[in-house]
Amino acid sequence: MTQPRSSEPVVVTIDGPAGAGKSTVARRLARALDYRLLDTGAIYRSLAFAAQGAGVSWTDGPKLAAIAAALDIDFRFVGDVNHVILAGTDVSAAIRTPEMSQGASQVSAHPEVRAALLELQRRLGAGGGVVVEGRDTGTVVFPDARAKFFLTASDDERARRRVAELQAAGQDVDLESTLRDIRERDERDASRAIAPMVAADDAVLFDSSQLTLDEVVAELLAAVRRRTTG
Ligand code: DC
Repeated sequence: MTQPRSSEPVVVTIDGPAGAGKSTVARRLARALDYRLLDTGAIYRSLAFAAQGAGVSWTDGPKLAAIAAALDIDFRFVGDVNHVILAGTDVSAAIRTPEMSQGASQVSAHPEVRAALLELQRRLGAGGGVVVEGRDTGTVVFPDARAKFFLTASDDERARRRVAELQAAGQDVDLESTLRDIRERDERDASRAIAPMVAADDAVLFDSSQLTLDEVVAELLAAVRRRTTG
């Protein structure tokens, strides 16, 4: 007799552009499923941060790849916060600035950087029981993930959310420059030659402009449960 698949730990991917609500949704989904949370954007952000500290330009692919290959990164998911620990230091706040958003987008466009970080991401997600968020997690990093989602929202809505998030964190930002930053990043992330941001063929698409994040979480949770219970 085949075993029911209920509560089988699987990989769930959530991809999409900046400000679509991925982080909040991924965090809440991970908590509801009692899964780990893998924020791949935080890895690219940490690389941009480490490179800046080492005086390496975000345009220098080979040197960035060398730093990426030795990146000492860890996550600690405590309460509502997924802490990012880089070489033993908590960099969770330091990597969330508009400057590091641009840095992450720039370093992530180098093919050798993406290759160097691929195994790290797969290792961190090994064994399943993990919600992974990013741009290419359903297409490249975990192409066999059991449940894949692509979350988006209008530019204006995403910029508004990003401003609220950054202001809540005490940063001084305005809507116009945030909207410009988001469009610039979307353009770079979606048009790069390798692993561009794109929905996987088998991803379920959600536009969160018209839905509250509560509604999105409820829909994703129901979809994951349909795929993991037999
Ligand atoms: O999700 P985020 O805003 O923290 O991501 C920061 C940047 O990292 C994003 O602009 C592009 C890059 N990134 C990527 O190229 N691939 C991923 N899987 C995740 C992020």
